[in-house]
Amino acid sequence: MATKRSNIHVMIDQQKIAHRIKQLGEQITRDYNGEPLIVLGVLKGAFVFMADLIRTIDLPLTCEFVGVSSYSGTQSTGNVRITHDLTVDIQDKHVLLVEDIIDSGRTIDYLVDVLKASRPKSLKICTFLDKPEAHDMRHKVDYNGFVVSKEFVVGYGLDLDGLYRGLPYLGQIRD
Ligand code: IMP
Ligand code: MG
Repeated sequence: MATKRSNIHVMIDQQKIAHRIKQLGEQITRDYNGEPLIVLGVLKGAFVFMADLIRTIDLPLTCEFVGVSSYSGTQSTGNVRITHDLTVDIQDKHVLLVEDIIDSGRTIDYLVDVLKASRPKSLKICTFLDKPEAHDMRHKVDYNGFVVSKEFVVGYGLDLDGLYRGLPYLGQIRD
């Protein structure tokens, strides 16, 4: 079967992921200094990372989600589409946008523009992975788990046509 775990080359293992997330959570806890925070996950990819991240943040936080879609297979289509809109008012609230991976940066740039129109108190970006070779973003990333190369990766929330999100590590599919 094509999705067998034996066909995956492990790039970042569970232990390294957990260690890095703990560091991010501690940094976020310090930076917001007891202030209430809305952690806003970008569906679907960010839900695994977000689930682990919020358990390392010691703040009065609430969880919200926005759904976007721009990929088909391993290629970004370039058109970002909202598939699930915000259901709370973020005006005057601290918002931390959580993404699985930043590739071209178009998804995040688009979302930040849309969210800023609702006038949050602050809006920061936290991504599990960053592909800096591939993007030229207008907005800066505030928290970044790992930098990866241009190659397509799966696991820990990231998918290929919906598959592989449940892998507990980050990997590459062997041909
Ligand atoms: P961007 O708009 O080009 O930055 O694309 C970001 C989105 O593309 C992410 O939220 C992912 O859903 C998807 N994506 C980009 N690179 C990869 C990858 O290597 N594996 C899986 N999904 C990816
Ligand atoms: Mg995504």
